[in-house]
Amino acid sequence: MAGTAEIILDGKTYQYPTIEGTEGEKAIDIAKLRDETGYITIDSGYKNTGATKSAITFLDGELGILHYRGYSIEDLAEKANFLEVAYLLIYGELPTTEQYSKFEHDIRTHTIVNEDMRRIFNGFPVNAHPMGVMSSLVSAMSGFYPDSYDDKAPDRTETHIIRLLAKFPTLATWCYKKSHGHPINYPKNSLDYCSNFLHMMFSLPVEDYHVDPIVSAALNKLLILHADHEQNCSTSTVRLVGSSKANIYSSISAGISALWGPLHGGANQEVIEMLEEIKADGGDVMKFVNKAKDKNSGFRLMGFGHRVYKNFDPRARIIKKAADDILGKLGVNDPVLEIAKGLEEAALHDDYFVSRKLYPNVDFYSGIIYRALGIPTNMFTVMFALGRLPGWIAQWKEMRANKEPIGRPRQIYTGATDRPFVPMAER
Ligand code: ACO
Repeated sequence: MAGTAEIILDGKTYQYPTIEGTEGEKAIDIAKLRDETGYITIDSGYKNTGATKSAITFLDGELGILHYRGYSIEDLAEKANFLEVAYLLIYGELPTTEQYSKFEHDIRTHTIVNEDMRRIFNGFPVNAHPMGVMSSLVSAMSGFYPDSYDDKAPDRTETHIIRLLAKFPTLATWCYKKSHGHPINYPKNSLDYCSNFLHMMFSLPVEDYHVDPIVSAALNKLLILHADHEQNCSTSTVRLVGSSKANIYSSISAGISALWGPLHGGANQEVIEMLEEIKADGGDVMKFVNKAKDKNSGFRLMGFGHRVYKNFDPRARIIKKAADDILGKLGVNDPVLEIAKGLEEAALHDDYFVSRKLYPNVDFYSGIIYRALGIPTNMFTVMFALGRLPGWIAQWKEMRANKEPIGRPRQIYTGATDRPFVPMAER
């Protein structure tokens, strides 16, 4: 219900409307604050700043709730497939059979990548991090589809969306193949989305490859869990870049770069590296818990803590259970799973973590599953990006449809005040 907030500044009272979302989230609309008062708000890290109104994803950090377009993450992870969820996020409703068939068919028939992109790709060193490569290649796609940035060309956004969803898996598998010195595989369009990805990743010209349905189902679930998460760092980046009317490829490329950071999606790689370090060190989890508590160590428990979830991350709960199931079904015995559980147990009983409401996040157990599926550590964040792609697309599309203004925060200047220029010889 709309109301009014009163703000008293320099002895004068100002009134601003409050707004409420469909799930009861409340905000003060301060759009006129600076014009009327001369003040701006300052909120480092945007901890209390709503950048937009969005109808895509709802999350309640206190209650550990996550919904895509009103459907619970638990239901979707259990019952849907990834492309169905992608359609839901991008177009707002679960697809009918006809809508799904067309969407899936369109994606299947756009999987191949222009051969000239290979020339760009070939220029990267073999040990280049795949996130840097992916960000570059997705940005390069704009060059192959110049109508994406030509204001006078007919609007082809829908085709660009299909291209992104279809070609991203192909590009991602190039990174893996190159790092292994193996020939790249062309997509096989008779396969479904997850199976095609696994085929391009793991099949070799010298032997038959059959997609393991357990692996494909696990991948499907992980991608759904990552598919959107409202205004996180990478999604906000996509919206901010897109708000300047930058094309969809450049905007998503910027999102990939933001996701790469170890405080965001890059944490999934860091988690496995941390667990390996604990294992190599003898497996004493308390030693690492204590190190994380020591502010001088510069060390954090990777995969722990979240800006919004202050109770539990519902995705982490699903992934933890899935890790047990999938490793069990595949007959994989990964010692780091036990180390991860021990670390979680120790942290959840430690006052430092309890008092700061630090719980395992989505990245804590996902790497263990990816590893069991045969995906190497440096590809983990690319897997996250593959899952997040429909969310970025949906958010970019919504931002454009709502005709949001260019994103341009203000600042409080703290530098030197006006001073005369001093010629170099006199300095
Ligand atoms: N280990 C140890 N201490 C931590 C951790 C951690 N993982 N996370 C937060 N803290 C501490 C901070 O030192 C701070 O302590 P203080 O109050 O004594 O100064 C307090 O908890 C609050 O931390 P902030 O950094 O202020 O919380 P913020 O909301 O800004 O950061 C973040 C959230 C970045 C996720 C943080 O918890 C973190 O760095 N976690 C590890 C990296 C990680 O797993 N990132 C993935 C997040 S999920 C995602 O992006 C997909």
